[in-house]
Amino acid sequence: MGLLLKIFIPLLGLALAFYFYSAPENFNEEMLRGKRVIVTGASSGIGEQMAYHLARMETHLLLTARTEAKLQKVVERCLALGAASARYVSGSMEDTAFPEVVVKEAENTWGGLDMLILNHIGSTYFNYFDGDVGHVRKLLEINFLSYVAMTVSALPMLQESEGSIVVVSSMAGKMGGPFTAPYSATKFALDGFFSSLRHEFIIDKVNVSITLCILGYIDTENAVRPSAEVGKPAPPAIRVTPAPKEECALEIIKSGALRHRELHYPSRVVGSLLLLQSIAPDFLDSLIRSGYKVENIKRTLPPGH
Ligand SMILES: NC(=O)c1ccc[n+]([C@@H]2O[C@H](COP(=O)([O-])OP(=O)(O)OC[C@H]3O[C@@H](n4cnc5c(N)ncnc54)[C@H](OP(=O)(O)O)[C@@H]3O)[C@@H](O)[C@H]2O)c1
Ligand SMILES: *[C@@H]1O[C@H](CO)[C@@H](O)[C@H](O)[C@H]1NC(C)=O
Repeated sequence: MGLLLKIFIPLLGLALAFYFYSAPENFNEEMLRGKRVIVTGASSGIGEQMAYHLARMETHLLLTARTEAKLQKVVERCLALGAASARYVSGSMEDTAFPEVVVKEAENTWGGLDMLILNHIGSTYFNYFDGDVGHVRKLLEINFLSYVAMTVSALPMLQESEGSIVVVSSMAGKMGGPFTAPYSATKFALDGFFSSLRHEFIIDKVNVSITLCILGYIDTENAVRPSAEVGKPAPPAIRVTPAPKEECALEIIKSGALRHRELHYPSRVVGSLLLLQSIAPDFLDSLIRSGYKVENIKRTLPPGH
């Protein structure tokens, strides 16, 4: 007990000192006014909501996704909400040339860039891993390699503007859950790549911030649909009510503007699960498994069987 106090009290003091010393600057919408921002996966869900918030903050927007008709509508709404300008480029991130096309569009229209928000994901199945390596390869291209390629193309402009890279990830990128092996792999890859790059930027005095967003369950249409259905992205690991996509989108923008290293949203759920992971990983795993009705998951046969 005495020893515990001897260790605990100084540690607590240190933690408090650190907290107050590093007390984050407050967010102010002015921070984004007139900034040039790319948002990927902006035709629906969280990306669409980010576009609307950024429009209200009077930014210049370049949006991208595959579906032109949806992007057209989002751009129209952004202009009505007050965007300084708004345009889109449509295409698939499965196409290895497309990431550079998007960044070039920003370069040609603005001659610079302040914030790169990487948010899109390709569709996947929710089921036992079916042995389809081709699907894993394709998903890595869309969810991971295109993020790397966009970062590479945009870096000169971001260095010039002392800008920010915002990477949207998931709880599935910090802890494994069943039935999402390909998706989870792509999100872990983002953490590894961008956490390593963050070090190098600091060592090299490259003043470009990297914010990794660890999201829990959010109420987007694609996430909320019945989870056992094939072809849907990650469902909730633990049955909770989904958090609102509008608030989620705003928190992502705030943490990017404040140059935070990570966002945990919703903070309490994500924070407790990450803490549990570090102190009782086996217990966390069983908790995660208990959140699924496995009898509802119908195994699909691997290709060729
Ligand atoms: N919702 C959640 O519960 C949740 C939880 C954790 C993390 N997240 C993360 O949050 C981000 C946004 O998720 P969301 O729920 O908003 O997803 P969503 O509504 O399904 O949006 C995905 C976006 O990506 C685009 N997209 C799909 N395939 C593409 C491709 N091949 N090339 C380019 N764009 C493509 C889609 O538009 P098109 O179909 O028009 O291309 C759409 O704009 C993702 O990174 C996701 O991992 C979400
Ligand atoms: C990095 O860039 C930000 C945003 O422009 C600026 O506020 C900060 O002072 C810069 N830091 C350094 C060390 O130059």
